Amino acid sequence: MAPVASFTAGDTGEWRIEAINAVAGEGLPPAAFLSTTAGEGGAEQGGAGLGAWTLRGVASNTRYTERAEATTLGSRQEGLGRPAASRAVLIPMRKSDAWWALAQDERRAIFAAQSDHIGIGLDVLPAVARRLLHARDLGEPFDFLTWFEFAPEATGAFDAMLARLRATVEWTFVEREVEVRLTRA
Ligand code: HEM
Repeated sequence: MAPVASFTAGDTGEWRIEAINAVAGEGLPPAAFLSTTAGEGGAEQGGAGLGAWTLRGVASNTRYTERAEATTLGSRQEGLGRPAASRAVLIPMRKSDAWWALAQDERRAIFAAQSDHIGIGLDVLPAVARRLLHARDLGEPFDFLTWFEFAPEATGAFDAMLARLRATVEWTFVEREVEVRLTRA
């Protein structure tokens, strides 16, 4: 299994928490800072119990991306850690039992044909850099941890993209979603 990446909220961290918004279901407790570990061998910061909360996930293989989409994404997306990208958003999400009861092809149809998730996302590339972590198989409270970085001037485009995604059929299966808005400390 890939190394476990973690996000710990507490009194220290490289990101200042500006807001925590409960979008669907239960939110997360307030905290001042967020520290992250890349999950690439780095030691976990902030020991257990120190942070207000810790969420964990692993980078995994893709499920729904077809070759042509992967090629387009690869040609347009930027990596994390760009100096100008001083804004970040952590969005942990859990999908419903109804979603997980579907077959793979049914989920792909909802994700792609019915919701155009990748098409909507592509509109904000390369301004927004992203990372998708899977947490469901770790027994975590969320199925996914999604992470986005962008420069302040891309905030409007990011918010518009988020609103479009939340209006899709795919999002009718989202039963818990929290938005953690961050600024590089
Ligand atoms: C920067 C724009 C975005 C792009 C380019 C993008 C692209 C993608 C791609 C290619 C996948 C499929 C991965 C796979 O094949 O398994 C994916 C999955 C996912 N994305 Fe996005 N996305 C974007 C924005 C977002 C946002 C804003 C959210 C959350 C609010 C989000 C949440 C997710 C989740 C939870 C999955 C996993 C879905 C599942 O496996 O059921 N994405 N995204």
